[in-house]
Amino acid sequence: MNDTNDPSDLFPSGLHRLDMIPATQATDLLASFQCGQDVLDGWLATRAATAEKLGMARTFLLIGPDRKLDGYFCLSSATLMRDRLRRAAERQGMPGHVPAILLGRLAVAETLHGQGIGSILLAHALEQACRAAHGPAAAAMILVHPIDAAASRFYAKFDFRPLSGSEPAEGIEPAMYLPITTAAKLVMLFRQ
Ligand SMILES: CC(C)(COP(=O)(O)OP(=O)(O)OC[C@H]1O[C@@H](n2cnc3c(N)ncnc32)[C@H](O)[C@@H]1OP(=O)(O)O)[C@@H](O)C(=O)NCCC(=O)NCCS
Repeated sequence: MNDTNDPSDLFPSGLHRLDMIPATQATDLLASFQCGQDVLDGWLATRAATAEKLGMARTFLLIGPDRKLDGYFCLSSATLMRDRLRRAAERQGMPGHVPAILLGRLAVAETLHGQGIGSILLAHALEQACRAAHGPAAAAMILVHPIDAAASRFYAKFDFRPLSGSEPAEGIEPAMYLPITTAAKLVMLFRQ
């Protein structure tokens, strides 16, 4: 882990650390994670290491004080259609395919839900997305695909909005987005 990923200043306890996925294939750490959504647990256990190796997704692990895995998120690159952005100001000057960072998955261990860890983990994800977007390969938006209605409500608390034209269909939540500029402001708020 390098210092720039050190979340001790975002986690008041200073006891958590953010780590990259181990180079070795699925370890016990990954296989034992349970967030209450089998799809997210299964992806971490069986796909995350390969996704990392193939350059498809970068996975960040939240290691707790007892060295257990308390949460994770992953990021990759994506595009979204300019016409799906809700505000004229967001569409202004954008190409048809708007460069974005995909927050592909974010999950907290089920035993720790409701303690604010998801919010702080999201703050870290936004911070990493902002870093990526302000790096050599630019991006203007953050995109998420909420797994269910509860996940949509969670993201909506942080100003993510559904893409325009994606009405809720049975069992499928609309994708949501957040401008990088808004994400940067949210990260600043978390740091205050
Ligand atoms: C969604 C998830 C990450 C939230 O983590 P958490 O640590 O429980 O969330 P927090 O305690 O930080 O709560 C943050 C806010 O979101 C709200 N929230 C959390 N989970 C929620 C849910 N399932 N439905 C609606 N609101 C929710 C909380 O009430 C809180 O709002 P408040 O500040 O107004 O009280 C966690 O429930 C989880 O891992 N779920 C399974 C995986 C998942 O659904 N991931 C979503 C991305 S696909």
